[in-house]
Amino acid sequence: MERLWNFVHQHVLFPLAEPMVPWKKETYVGLDVFYKEYIEVGGRSFGQNFIPFLQGLGMPKQPRAFEWCAGAGFVGFSALAHGLCENLALADISKEAMKACRRTIAKNRLGQRCVAYVSDNLKDIPQSEKWDLVLGNPPHHADEYAGDRRGYDDKWGIRRGFYTSVRPFLNPGAVIVVLENNRASTLDGFRGMIEDGGLKIVLTQNDVPERTSEDRFYFIVTMRREDTPPAWLTGG
Ligand SMILES: C[S@@+](CC[C@H](N)C(=O)[O-])C[C@H]1O[C@@H](n2cnc3c(N)ncnc32)[C@H](O)[C@@H]1O
Repeated sequence: MERLWNFVHQHVLFPLAEPMVPWKKETYVGLDVFYKEYIEVGGRSFGQNFIPFLQGLGMPKQPRAFEWCAGAGFVGFSALAHGLCENLALADISKEAMKACRRTIAKNRLGQRCVAYVSDNLKDIPQSEKWDLVLGNPPHHADEYAGDRRGYDDKWGIRRGFYTSVRPFLNPGAVIVVLENNRASTLDGFRGMIEDGGLKIVLTQNDVPERTSEDRFYFIVTMRREDTPPAWLTGG
């Protein structure tokens, strides 16, 4: 029943009501990010953990970043505004989310630096895209929110699809940072699919080995198997 309701909500009610829903705005270092309430799924709150995490590591500005499962792009646009990347690509399966990203790009005159793709995972990303940094706050749950693609990753299929298809888009030395929730997952659940994708885990932050009863957000940092992690990642 919950799954049916979520489907009707997502595919019938949302598209009908969407034009009437007012735009909202969040500002990062002078960059206005536009969104509608239902698109916001953590990017404005815990999603902003990316910024101090990357700044704390001393990451230099990356030429081109990508936000996977971007929603309204709170994470990616904030990274751009904070000088963590020069250019930004964003993608999401939701047309409404990408409409919001395109509004942000237009209103901030970022057309030369940013692009937004509607894409199921990486399937519709042009092969010419090459990234130095990938950021992602994907749906966190495989046993809650069934039918709601903002929260539910059925049998971790979105993760598996991402980790096993992202390699061709990575420049040598590229770093992938994904935000996870220990209430829903543990690092060990993702290790196999990361390795199957020709990647390796180079760093994690704030994870614990067992699932937690409360939200506990953690980062998984991966790179291509053959790449040497940069000094800013290893503290060298
Ligand atoms: C937890 S929300 C996070 C959104 C945004 N990153 C944020 O932090 O606010 C997960 C996002 O993943 C998107 N998503 C779900 N399934 C997807 C898929 N197969 N391909 C691309 N995006 C997907 C949803 O539309 C949603 O915007």
